[in-house]
Amino acid sequence: MTRPFLVISTRESDAATLDELRSTLHLSGLTADQVVHWRLERDPLPPLSELQPENFSGFIIGGSPFNASDTEKSAVQLRVEADLARLLDWIVEHDAPFLGECYGVGTLGVHQGATIDRSYPEPVGSTWVTLTEAGLADPLLAGVPQEFGAFVGHKESVSALPDHAVLLATSGPAPVQMFKIQNHQYATQFHPELDQEGLITRIGIYAHAGYFPPEDAEQLIERTRQQDHPWPRVILQNFVRLYGSGNSTHSKSVGPTVSKLFSPVTIRTLEGDGLTLRNRSVLAPMCTYSVTAKDGVPSDWHLVHLGARANGGFGLIIAEATGVSPEARITDQDLGLWNDEQRDAFKRITNYLHSYGAAAGIQLAHAGGKASTYPHLLEYVDSDRKGSIPEEQGGWETVGPSETDIHRLRSPREMTAEDIQKVIKDFTDAARRADEAGFDFIQIHAAHGYLIHQFLSPLTNKREDEWGGSFENRTRLALEVVKAVREVWPQNKALGIRFSGTDWVDEGWTIEETIQLSHLVADLGVTAIDLSSAGIGQYFGPMGPGYQTQLAAQVKKSFEGQDMFVTAVGFITTAEQAETLLMTDQADGISIARAALNDPHWAANAAKTLGVTAKENPRAAQYWRGSW
Ligand SMILES: Cc1cc2nc3c(=O)[nH]c(=O)nc-3n(C[C@H](O)[C@H](O)[C@H](O)COP(=O)(O)O)c2cc1C
Repeated sequence: MTRPFLVISTRESDAATLDELRSTLHLSGLTADQVVHWRLERDPLPPLSELQPENFSGFIIGGSPFNASDTEKSAVQLRVEADLARLLDWIVEHDAPFLGECYGVGTLGVHQGATIDRSYPEPVGSTWVTLTEAGLADPLLAGVPQEFGAFVGHKESVSALPDHAVLLATSGPAPVQMFKIQNHQYATQFHPELDQEGLITRIGIYAHAGYFPPEDAEQLIERTRQQDHPWPRVILQNFVRLYGSGNSTHSKSVGPTVSKLFSPVTIRTLEGDGLTLRNRSVLAPMCTYSVTAKDGVPSDWHLVHLGARANGGFGLIIAEATGVSPEARITDQDLGLWNDEQRDAFKRITNYLHSYGAAAGIQLAHAGGKASTYPHLLEYVDSDRKGSIPEEQGGWETVGPSETDIHRLRSPREMTAEDIQKVIKDFTDAARRADEAGFDFIQIHAAHGYLIHQFLSPLTNKREDEWGGSFENRTRLALEVVKAVREVWPQNKALGIRFSGTDWVDEGWTIEETIQLSHLVADLGVTAIDLSSAGIGQYFGPMGPGYQTQLAAQVKKSFEGQDMFVTAVGFITTAEQAETLLMTDQADGISIARAALNDPHWAANAAKTLGVTAKENPRAAQYWRGSW
């Protein structure tokens, strides 16, 4: 860390000032040489051309005996306010990192037009803070629970925020406990920099300052001794982690440079150095129903579609569900990898992805009883061509573990032992071709109600032979496919699998079974698992942002201490949401689907939001001029 933080204090008491600096350093993990400490009540701020604010990683301002709403102000207080206003002009203009603790509400709030008054005071002691949805998704609050205790003590607070401010936390006594301006200016009403020792010191020093009746001091100290609040200090630590950087220049696009989402990660391989991704954003596989020749061969469309997402900064690009045989395709316009023509056409794509810094993955799939359906394109939906393609229009016989009408499609034929062996061989041949085509990564599709999932789930697997019934029998196909693919897929290439973590119904496939199976596939050489859900019959699961990320979190937890790359997927749309999932150890990587359909540059834009410098942004170099 070459650029220090500027820590500003405004307290006239030496003891209070020094103790605040002590607790700030102690709780943030900063060392004395990583901060410049400025006693603003004593030393006026020089002109900004002299101060050179661009040479600081960020600005931290602690508590203060001053109140913005004081009716009478000393000359020192007025000068401190004027100095801070000048500095805040620069900070806001440059969207620079700022953390105002308690007094930050008065300073940043006033600067931004908030109403600061004495409607919601809180006595010295503890309060109970609740994060808003925006707070839960904010990187500065990563790792902080939705509700937590904090030390407070203030006479004034925000009673109305301006429209452009984002409310991050609230409490019963004070409706605004934390807010944010733009991307990097934060103010808290509570004290992230305060520990028990610090509060006890302040109670002693400010016993006659009107925060509480002086005779209550002893009792307050006793109460403080009995209660510590560990969570607020995580905010301070996150601030230092996110914004502490070695960059010597600061611009609007420069902020935190240690985003976890945009740090490289290596997926373990059985031999060699592993597959290193430039960042942890993964383009989830998405069918585009665009093989208009219906021969499974990728075209210019696939090159441009996938290539655009490599240009847009994704670390790993996974090509859509690709049929391991013609009858394995979901629709007749899906990709395939059952012949050499397809393999050779894929080579052009993997070369392109590699040349723009992305790792190339492919999802190998068999749709089973959900095969032979119309492409999910608007023109088909509009002309009422939904569901199974009739045989006279080119539809084909589908196969599955058992006959079923659960998908409201033509029932599949129950597979014979020979059919099952053919599917395993088709996966093997496709995996060999995937290697020859230059892919770095295979994801076996065992999710979304397609063939492997149909065998896993008791909802679709009614067999009474060794492929159905018990957990061991229902998982046999998944394990045989993994084993067979692993045999031909080079040991120095990473193998992944995608599961539906649960069917969301009691009689269906469960997360406990997914965890059990995850460890079995790990034993066979799978080192990456993506956790989706559902796909068999009607959907009964939750909806909304991050609706299924808990599944990834559970699988990840079960691999604690082991090197498994677990990715979360499902309604993850913002950079902050993705970063929080990683920071809170719920996942190792983030798969993005629909948000990346809308924005091929999702990753590059997320990197910018999380403060990655324009220079380090993973987007194609040709787009650098667009990064202001
Ligand atoms: C158009 C479209 C096509 C999809 N195709 C596939 C696919 O080929 N394989 C797969 O496993 N999931 C597929 N999915 C599911 C996504 O990979 C992802 O799991 C799901 O959309 C939830 O993530 P999201 O909220 O980021 O979109 C598809 C989703 C969409 C929207």
